[in-house]
Amino acid sequence: MDKTDWIGRDVVSMRDFSKEDIEFVLDVAEALEDELGKKGSLDYARGKILATLFYEPSTRTRLSFESAMHRLGGSVIGFSSASSSSVKKGESLADTIRTVERYSDVIVLRHPLDGAARLAAEVASVPVINAGDGSNQHPTQTLLDLYTIRRAFGRIDGLTIGLLGDLKYGRTVHSLAEALAFYDVELYLISPEILRMPRHIVEELREMGVEVHESTNLEETVPKLDLLYVTRIQRERFPDEEEYMKVRGSYQVNAAVLRNAKESLKVMHPLPRVDEIHPEVDGTGHALYFDQVFSGIPVRMALLGLTLGVL
Ligand code: NCD
Repeated sequence: MDKTDWIGRDVVSMRDFSKEDIEFVLDVAEALEDELGKKGSLDYARGKILATLFYEPSTRTRLSFESAMHRLGGSVIGFSSASSSSVKKGESLADTIRTVERYSDVIVLRHPLDGAARLAAEVASVPVINAGDGSNQHPTQTLLDLYTIRRAFGRIDGLTIGLLGDLKYGRTVHSLAEALAFYDVELYLISPEILRMPRHIVEELREMGVEVHESTNLEETVPKLDLLYVTRIQRERFPDEEEYMKVRGSYQVNAAVLRNAKESLKVMHPLPRVDEIHPEVDGTGHALYFDQVFSGIPVRMALLGLTLGVL
C-alpha cells in the first residue's frame, strides 16, 4: 500500500476499507501532526479547493474539515445548511453534486439520508468523503476515534471496549464497531432494549471473531472496561417523539457510575453531548473526549491530502 492507491478514492463506508488501509491513514495522520507541530502550517494542498456540503447540523465535523484543508494550504467553499442552497428550490442531490464538482477538487458531504454519500460518490468525478449519512455511516469519525485510541493506549488490540447509548441510530458506533472488528478487542454493547445495535452488525462482528456481549446495565459493565465510548440518543432519527420519550435520559456517565471503573478507564464521545456525560467527569483522568476532538485535524488532513494526491 502506498499513497498512490489513495488518489481519487471515495471515503463512503468503513466497509470499503481494509485494516491495512486504516493503519495507513493513521500513520499518515501521525506524520502530518508531527510536521504541522514543527512548521505551523503546510502547503501540500495549495491551489486545491474543498467543497463542504452540509445538509445537517455540524460543529466539529465541518469545522475540522475546513480547518484541516486550511492547514494543508488549500481553500474551502460550501454551505452549512440545505436551506441556504438550491435544495430549497427542489434541486436533487445528484444535480448539486454535478455542479459542485465543477467548482472543487474534493467534496465532503453530510446528509440525513442513509446512502446519500454512496449516490454522490457514484455521480461525482472528484473524491467524495462521507461526513455522516443518516444513521448509516460516519467513517471519518471512526478514523479519528481509532487515532485517539492508538494515541491514548499505544494500541487497539487487547482492549475491552464498551459502546454505550443509541446503538440503533448512531452512525458513529456503526462505523466504529465495523472497524474494531479488524482488531483483537472484546466488545460490550450497552443500550436500552429498543436502541440495540442492528442485528446484521452484531452478526458481522461475531463472524469476524469478536467476542460481543450485549447489556442494558451500565453500572455492572463499567468495571470490565478499558474504554467507554458514549453516544447521544439520536432524537432526530426517531420516527415519533413518544418513542424518544421512553428512552430519554435513560443513562448517564457520572462520578457515581465511574466509582468502580478501572483507574485507567478512558471515556470517549463523538460529541455533541446532551446529558449522557455529566460535566463532573470532564476534569477527571477518564475524560478523553476533548483530545478526541483534536484528532479530527490530522486525520482529516490525511484523508484530504491522500484523496487529492498531494502528499
Ligand atoms: C456525531 C454525528 O453527527 O453523527 N457527531 C459528530 O460528527 N461528531 C454524533 C451525534 O450527532 O450524536
